[in-house]
Amino acid sequence: MRNTLLALILAGRAGTAAARGNIEVLARTCNSCHGVGGVSAGATMPSIGGLPRDYLSNIMKQWKYDERSAITMNRIVKGLSNDEIDALAAYFAQQPWVPVPQKANPETLARGKTEVDNNCADCHGASGGDPDVDAPPLNGQWARYMELELQKYQSKEFKMPHRKMRKAAQQAKPADASAAARHFGAQGR
Ligand code: HEC
Ligand code: HEC
Repeated sequence: MRNTLLALILAGRAGTAAARGNIEVLARTCNSCHGVGGVSAGATMPSIGGLPRDYLSNIMKQWKYDERSAITMNRIVKGLSNDEIDALAAYFAQQPWVPVPQKANPETLARGKTEVDNNCADCHGASGGDPDVDAPPLNGQWARYMELELQKYQSKEFKMPHRKMRKAAQQAKPADASAAARHFGAQGR
């Protein structure tokens, strides 16, 4: 009786370790674009380590089921099961969020701060580091990437399902949205 129980527990542990190992192998396939630990080194590529778990699994499933536009990610997640998506979301959510503060010219930053204080801070925090539960952190996210995402939110040609974020983006002038992206990109912790 005891031995059977022990065997079951050990089998359970081995199963968990194997699952964890598989997720690490799968997560490594993301590094080539998103960087080690999900800290991106490229301006058009977002950092993903430390994004909230529900945000991650939600948007990956939206891509999988063609509910959200993407240039690249929709193809990548098509091959993943929902369980793999959930496990990847949990894995990257456990990594620390590492802001990469970027320089920008002072006029742009001032313009961006005004836009953020007036129209974005309620949901993202003044520095982007204090987001609502359903929003990602933006402090030290890559500004060029955010600018491109904001253009998608502003255009009617792209499917970006979050209604309130879409409304906020469409209320901003394109130049103000870009400046807001520069402001968030310049922030550290
Ligand atoms: C070939 C490069 C490439 C690979 C590999 C890749 N991604 Fe991406 N990822 C992108 C691009 C480009 C974007 C921006 C959205 C788009 O246009 O597809 C993105 C965006 C994302 C975002 C959105 C981040 C945010 O801030 O909202 C998440 C989450 C993400 N990828 C997760 C992953 C995961 C998990 C993997 C591994 C299974 C992965 N990516 C592999 C290129 C890649
Ligand atoms: C009503 C709350 C709300 C307001 C106001 C708001 N946002 Fe958002 N924002 C969100 C949420 C929620 C998301 C994630 C949406 C999703 O899951 O698809 C988001 C996503 C984003 C993203 C994409 C991040 C990524 O990693 O892909 C950027 C960039 C962004 N917001 C910038 C802004 C800017 C700039 C403003 C002001 C002009 C703004 N937001 C105003 C709630 C808000």
